[in-house]
Amino acid sequence: MKKLENKVVFITGGNSGIGKAACMEAAREGATVVLADLAGKDHKGTIDAIEALNAKCMFVPIDVADVNSVKQAINATVDKFGRIDVAFNNAGIGGAYSGIHDMPEAVWDKIIAVNLTGQFYCVKYELQQFLKQGGGIIVNMSSLGGLKAEHGLVAYTAAKHGVLGLTKNIAVQYAAQNIRGNAICPYYVETPLLSAAPEAVHSSWIEGTPAKRLCTPEEVAKAFIYLASEDSSYCNGISLILDGGVMA
Ligand SMILES: NC(=O)c1ccc[n+]([C@@H]2O[C@H](COP(=O)([O-])OP(=O)(O)OC[C@H]3O[C@@H](n4cnc5c(N)ncnc54)[C@H](O)[C@@H]3O)[C@@H](O)[C@H]2O)c1
Repeated sequence: MKKLENKVVFITGGNSGIGKAACMEAAREGATVVLADLAGKDHKGTIDAIEALNAKCMFVPIDVADVNSVKQAINATVDKFGRIDVAFNNAGIGGAYSGIHDMPEAVWDKIIAVNLTGQFYCVKYELQQFLKQGGGIIVNMSSLGGLKAEHGLVAYTAAKHGVLGLTKNIAVQYAAQNIRGNAICPYYVETPLLSAAPEAVHSSWIEGTPAKRLCTPEEVAKAFIYLASEDSSYCNGISLILDGGVMA
């Protein structure tokens, strides 16, 4: 039995890295996949790969930092498929290394706008739909940086800590309405987000984990499927850590 048979799954940032792996894994588990990502980027290859798994899918443009764009993407999904069963609020941008005392306000604003306020916009309008349809599941992308400071990643770690606060509030406010909200907290994952890091920094991340390797997007996608399915029916408000032993 597939774990997401006939479920409509809405994934932001679905065209790259973790989001793309989650789209593929959801398709393998029988879901109808809505790939929501920035307009203007080529998403055809991802859509073709999802369709090759015999899954129904649709691309919707979204800029999570723009509330009207979020509303339009959710409305377009419901217009097409009638409901949203699972939302994976995964879209995000990397951080900028800086001291707090000299962090440019514009950099702070941008990272918070996408990585925290964007999550709030998605959660708000997904919840409105879930309340209408009688339930739903939210999975929010945080990070190990949501649980501990990463030296210099000021706005990123603040945003990812905020995502966990938002997620816990879903759990305590909406459990009675058949709605669950959980978060995923990976250490570094081998995706295009890391491509700007110098080789020495990349190696230091690997050295810093007992696993002596970074996480793969597919491993995060498997954790997403767990939280998106009935397998995790009693999980609500959790921060699921994928860190190869770093926090231990
Ligand atoms: N890669 C890592 O090491 C790592 C670790 C922990 C958490 N994360 C988190 O996982 C999520 C996905 O990261 P990834 O590594 O797959 O990165 P990625 O860069 O490969 O993919 C990010 C996707 O989000 C989209 N996106 C960016 N800004 C957007 C916006 N304003 N609106 C809509 N879509 C937008 C991009 O177009 C892209 O498709 C992010 O939230 C990131 O913070 C990543």
